[in-house]
Amino acid sequence: MSITDTKPQLKGQNVATVNIFRYDPSTTDEAHYDSWQVPITGSMTVLDLLFYILEHEDGSLAFRYACREAICGSCALYVNGTYRLACKTQLKDLKATEINISPLPHLKVIKDLVVDMDPFWEKYERIRPYLITRDDLPEKEFLQDPADRLKMDDMVDCILCGACYSSCPQCWTDPEYLGPAALVKMNRFTVDTRDQANQERTKIFDNEHGVWRCHTIFNCVEACPKDINQTYSIQHLKRRAVARRFGGK
Ligand code: SF4
Ligand code: FES
Repeated sequence: MSITDTKPQLKGQNVATVNIFRYDPSTTDEAHYDSWQVPITGSMTVLDLLFYILEHEDGSLAFRYACREAICGSCALYVNGTYRLACKTQLKDLKATEINISPLPHLKVIKDLVVDMDPFWEKYERIRPYLITRDDLPEKEFLQDPADRLKMDDMVDCILCGACYSSCPQCWTDPEYLGPAALVKMNRFTVDTRDQANQERTKIFDNEHGVWRCHTIFNCVEACPKDINQTYSIQHLKRRAVARRFGGK
């Protein structure tokens, strides 16, 4: 059975024009957009749309996904000029009959909608994204005061989708810049009362490729599908860096 044998008929259905970025470096140097007419149903998401095309139009379309529940961060894309999670975005919310889908801008494309996230993960690893303690670990849980936990609320919501990294002009121009997501995670451990590595953490973010590279243009805040305020975290780290330079903790 060919891929088109099961294709639903479009007659009488709501239809959207879908334009998808295509690029396969193993066969060509040129990128282009492919267009399809796709029948739209009530709660269809952008991810459903990609599956429709994969199943009925072109089985070679490459895209990432995993959880389908807006928690793994794999499906971040650029849809009609806005950063979005494909699995969370319902087509009806786009309020458009033409839908343009591109990979995360400013990242190297591996194929179609799949980008190379290695530079993003390299920055994430650099900030040591785990608790560092000097004292003996507790036998069971590492309890934390609810008020202290509240201080990290915004930051723990990050799903590492990379949208903020892709949107940041400083990441485009300084390949060594840690970027918004890594700095949010850095702030998360800096405010964590259980972490005991503040001195060494400061050295990682208080430098020319750290917080001082941020010029507070808020692209990251606008891009984040989880409504995290990365700029707040970065400003908090800047204040901490200055305090440390003047002998604070
Ligand atoms: S801060 Fe927001 S945009 Fe950046 S990686 Fe986390 S969830 Fe994605
Ligand atoms: S598939 Fe996991 S966030 Fe969309």
